[in-house]
Amino acid sequence: MTHGKMTKGEHEGIARWERRWLSVSGLMSLFFVLLIAYSLATEGAHIAQRSGRTTPDQLTSNPLFAEPGVRTMAPNQYQVTVVAQAFAFAPAEIRLPVGAEVDFFLTSRDVIHGFQIQDTNVNVEVLPSEISYLRYTFDKAGEFRLTCNEYCGISHQNMLGKIIIVPASEFARATTSSADNLGEQIFNTNCAACHQASGEGVAGAFPPVRGHVNELFTAQGGREYLPALLLNGLQGPIEIAGNTYNGIMPAWRQLSDEQIAAVLNYSLTAWDAPSEFQPYEASEILGARNQTLNANDVYTLRQALNLGGQ
Ligand code: CUA
Repeated sequence: MTHGKMTKGEHEGIARWERRWLSVSGLMSLFFVLLIAYSLATEGAHIAQRSGRTTPDQLTSNPLFAEPGVRTMAPNQYQVTVVAQAFAFAPAEIRLPVGAEVDFFLTSRDVIHGFQIQDTNVNVEVLPSEISYLRYTFDKAGEFRLTCNEYCGISHQNMLGKIIIVPASEFARATTSSADNLGEQIFNTNCAACHQASGEGVAGAFPPVRGHVNELFTAQGGREYLPALLLNGLQGPIEIAGNTYNGIMPAWRQLSDEQIAAVLNYSLTAWDAPSEFQPYEASEILGARNQTLNANDVYTLRQALNLGGQ
């Protein structure tokens, strides 16, 4: 190499190397883009999308976020909405069945948070005023930790949640037994007209359910009495808290075993649950359904309960 001006040959040599390096970096960029395309196409990778806007003060009136949580859209298809805020996710625990295809809608009430589900490729930035959307299918059962991975303040490290994926059968069972809504729905549709939505009944006309049902349940034989009452009705004068009732409780055989169990569980826990309460199962109702009684037999059963002076 000589000092001073470059010769034409030296200049061309350098230019050649520049072109080589440019092509290498160009090929690397192409390679990375192809990798991303490949993972999107075959590995189920997801890119979160923006699906709309909502400002934090609109959250309570936004149908998606007013009551964040799990909604069933179709068999095995769920919509999960989550509101992130310093320093928690609402809801903090999400339960879904294996195979659930989930549309996540996420937003933040305050600052930027992260939404990362351990052992999955779900990792979304959650921004105030923006709704992030992403679809994910949970293929295996287990408990997945949910973390915020954007520093959001002094207690950022405590911003945790979990997603619990259970076998489909277990999920169905959990939904039925925790289906307060089913029991409440049945109660409001069928029972509230007489016993009132408050369960307090109408003095002298319709007996109270609230409180009284717990009294019946805890009496000896009460657990067996209640399904018999709902399935067969009741006829005969009764006295509750100083009021006399002489109406007719109709039989509710048209309700399914699940529905009867749910409405009993609701009535027993909506206001004050008996201590050590074991919810009714549908199978228990089936057993009672097989014994055919009439409304007068149920009255006799009721009198055999030791209801303390009634
Ligand atoms: Cu929320 Cu860190």
